[in-house]
Amino acid sequence: MKTKSPPALDLSPLSQKDLLCTSSLQTADIERIFATTRALKTGRAVHTEVLRHKRLAMIFEKDSLRTRFTFDIGMQDLGGSAVFMDHRDARLGSRESVKDVAKNLERWVHGIVARTFKHKAMEELAHHAGIPVINGLSDLVHPCQALSDFFTLTEKWGSVRGRTLTYVGDGNNTCHALIHTAVKLGTNIRVCSPEGYEPNSRVVNEAMRVASETGAEVTILNDPVAAAEGADAIYTDVWASMGQEDEIAERNGVFASYQIDDDMMARALPGALFMHCLPAHRGWEVTQEVMDGPQSVVYDIAENRLHVQKAILALLLR
Ligand code: CP
Ligand code: NVA
Repeated sequence: MKTKSPPALDLSPLSQKDLLCTSSLQTADIERIFATTRALKTGRAVHTEVLRHKRLAMIFEKDSLRTRFTFDIGMQDLGGSAVFMDHRDARLGSRESVKDVAKNLERWVHGIVARTFKHKAMEELAHHAGIPVINGLSDLVHPCQALSDFFTLTEKWGSVRGRTLTYVGDGNNTCHALIHTAVKLGTNIRVCSPEGYEPNSRVVNEAMRVASETGAEVTILNDPVAAAEGADAIYTDVWASMGQEDEIAERNGVFASYQIDDDMMARALPGALFMHCLPAHRGWEVTQEVMDGPQSVVYDIAENRLHVQKAILALLLR
């Protein structure tokens, strides 16, 4: 009897030692992460030895459900293991220098996933560690999230080139990672935020430079109705990120007219997708109807966090 062979894996190295920000990746790197994701997703039962005996350190300064579980389970799926260090009570670098944390960890493990308040701490860790450092969210960007978002879009649409993704909400880490990733892949990105909450201008300027090479369009605006018009997908995130809890009341007022509801979805193209990185707050940035409605792909994205991060681990830690 003929048995089906497992999907082939191309695990030749990416252009970078680390994954700190998708802006540092080449488009070919992203495409290879996606190809590896497809192979690992369809071959979950067969690709179980790719990271045999490899160890991952996870250092988190903030809460997490998805990122923590998917990296840990991802390592187990691939034959390795992960050790979690909860840093919510003490910032990275407070007990000993970030350099010494890096210099110790590199003697024991093969890679580090970090979730930090300051992106600078992430960069410092990567600078001193001879092993790959993967950004599991910083104040600047959330690259594994954006890669999972775009991988999900490739599953839904085939190609993402020339499509329009509208992000409505705070110009935060999730938003920055979407901008960086969209332009690399030739996806048009519209970002709609209240005045004063727009994305970082350095991120936008860098994205516009890349967009001029890939043919993508970057549009920054304040009017949610105009932003939603004719979009292929609408994305939102929390109005107050972790660390901004004392601004929640003020932000709930500022962002009130930026909620994603059925009217906003109706302005997008028929069948447009609703996206959210989660955790979500029904009744605030998104209505329950949209969040739990037929256009929502939020749990597909969450599922793909596992498969995409397994690809990142396999490509960087091998
Ligand atoms: N989207 C995301 O990163 O979720 P967690 O904060 O639960 O990891
Ligand atoms: N912008 C959010 C994303 C959570 C996954 C935060 O930083 O809290």
